[in-house]
Amino acid sequence: MGRYRTKTELEEIGTRHLNGESWKSISESFGVTRDVTRKSWERYQLRRDDGVVRTEGGRAIMWTDEKLHDIERRRDDGETLKEIGDTYGVSGATLSSALQSFNQRKRKQQPSSPTPDFEDWDIPEDVDWRELLDSATAKQDLWKRIDPRQEHLTIHLDTDQPIALAFSADLHIGGGFTNHQAIKKTLELLLDTPNMYMSANGDMFEGFIPGEKSAETVEQQASSLREQFAANRSVVKEFVEREKLLWWMWGDHDAKWFEKLIGVNVVKMMTDREVPYFNQAATVNLKVGGESYLLYVNHSLPGRSMYNKNHAQGRAFREQVPADVIVSGHAHKPAIQWEYRYEKMRELGYNLGGKVTYVQCGTFKTGPDPYSTRFWSRGIIGVPTLVFWPGEHRTHAFDNPEDAAIYLRGYSQKVA
Ligand SMILES: [Fe+2]
Repeated sequence: MGRYRTKTELEEIGTRHLNGESWKSISESFGVTRDVTRKSWERYQLRRDDGVVRTEGGRAIMWTDEKLHDIERRRDDGETLKEIGDTYGVSGATLSSALQSFNQRKRKQQPSSPTPDFEDWDIPEDVDWRELLDSATAKQDLWKRIDPRQEHLTIHLDTDQPIALAFSADLHIGGGFTNHQAIKKTLELLLDTPNMYMSANGDMFEGFIPGEKSAETVEQQASSLREQFAANRSVVKEFVEREKLLWWMWGDHDAKWFEKLIGVNVVKMMTDREVPYFNQAATVNLKVGGESYLLYVNHSLPGRSMYNKNHAQGRAFREQVPADVIVSGHAHKPAIQWEYRYEKMRELGYNLGGKVTYVQCGTFKTGPDPYSTRFWSRGIIGVPTLVFWPGEHRTHAFDNPEDAAIYLRGYSQKVA
């Protein structure tokens, strides 16, 4: 569809319409729609510099600058727009609109200020989206290289003897209500017992950062954050050196709060290249001799029940991973259950099903801190420890590493 582009064409449309010619007639003569003609008319009005055009009752009227000056003079003398309009045969509203456009045009014609010239403006670019996507990918590749993302871990212990694995969690080292001497005793036992290993399953230090919780939580800590980091780092180092540590796991107090408040996870830094670190739920294929056990571990699992303290692990078994052992911390009260599930699968030769053990870890934060006892109850010390056999699919669960150690000692004496 054609358009009116030239000044001459606009002038012609304006003049013909002012002379009373209909839109239809003008449009037909140019071979365009009425809409295009009307738009051209609007442009014609805007371009005029010798007056203002207004339409009233379908009649286009040209208000020249001379007339408009006269109207302004009459207003100054006290006449109303309606009275002036009556003498021209138009409404006061039409005159008001014409005067507004007239004044706008006059303002535009006033001398303008110098245009600013920003001589050293470093103008940002519109960067191509392809370049931005490639840049994001490069950054992701780099992050993968420096950030632990372990979701599944295979651990092989080359042995023909049963081993014990302690599921420690919620040590809360440095807390004002943590039993630090009990932690010391347990860690020494783990270090001194042959064939016994440790896994760390979150909240390994107290980690009350100013601003995260009540100010009093910071005030009551028995160790500063710096001392808590140092203590944990020392545990990591010694257990790694003694080849006792199988993995380290995120917790709320040590990993999550630091991610939330400072954007950096200090547990990742503490365990960096020392021991595999899980920043979320993880599966572990624990190979003891020739036997493989599947473990599903997380600091916290959803689905607490006041009637069944292992409900969360049972739910994870049903909905997530039908592993041999399901473990989580966070709840501060140890609980262990075992039962048989999908035993047919194992009978059929699959390495799946049979005895499953649900493990809820305990804590060393035994209180009486108000933050536990106002709404819950005091935490219970407990590091559930499981024995895994090589050569046959066989596990035993103990409340604590001391009893597991007695079992291992009994086994080694029997063999000797
Ligand atoms: Fe905890």
